[in-house]
Amino acid sequence: MILSRIKKNKLLATVAMVYLLLSLAQPDKAWQALSNSSYYLLEMAQIMPVIFLLTVSIEILVPKEWILSHFGKDSGMVGNLLSLVLGSISAGPIYAAFPIGKMLLSKGASVGNVVIILSSWAVIKVPMLANEAKFLGVQFMATRWVLTVVLILLMGFLMQKLVKEEEITVEKVDADEVLSVEQDYCIGCGLCANIAPEVYAMDQGKALVVVAGDISKYTETIKETADKCPAKAIHYN
Ligand code: F3S
Repeated sequence: MILSRIKKNKLLATVAMVYLLLSLAQPDKAWQALSNSSYYLLEMAQIMPVIFLLTVSIEILVPKEWILSHFGKDSGMVGNLLSLVLGSISAGPIYAAFPIGKMLLSKGASVGNVVIILSSWAVIKVPMLANEAKFLGVQFMATRWVLTVVLILLMGFLMQKLVKEEEITVEKVDADEVLSVEQDYCIGCGLCANIAPEVYAMDQGKALVVVAGDISKYTETIKETADKCPAKAIHYN
């Protein structure tokens, strides 16, 4: 149980381990790092609920067809410009943009347009431009804005060519963590191995899970086997 939780949260576990080692080797540095992390966590705790609320609202209220036609692959230059505007008028730190980017991708926005939204959110937000003009002058701000926009559009174009939507939107699901056959219940009818021979195999009258690693592409077939198994021996969660 604990091991599977650690496996699911590898990054968090690694960070905790680094903190532990640092606190043993250099307690003062560990304390300083912890207080910096707490500051950012507190900041995130204040911002993220609003962002999640916004993400859910867009998800519920904005039809998929609308996002597809305005930000999808075929939205062309209009989609690029809309993305640029959307990113520029946004507020909040860049990490708040990632859940929105993921939601837009899942509703049909193209990779290129999501890159444009994220990039303009990060470097050409309107409040940022106003501050930049105040401290560094209008000419500096305007020149940087023009050059940045050109590069953002180019980056969107290249990312669209290099990255596939499915690689981002499809969550990886590890077979070890979510799929098992309860050997005591299995009556060896072989139905699961017939439906999904790439996932199960029969061994001495019992079904075994033989697929390893990411099983996201078999999700539907596995659900079907779990539903149809007469002994309800297949556990998938
Ligand atoms: Fe056993 Fe159910 Fe498969 S009984 S063989 S796990 S369909």
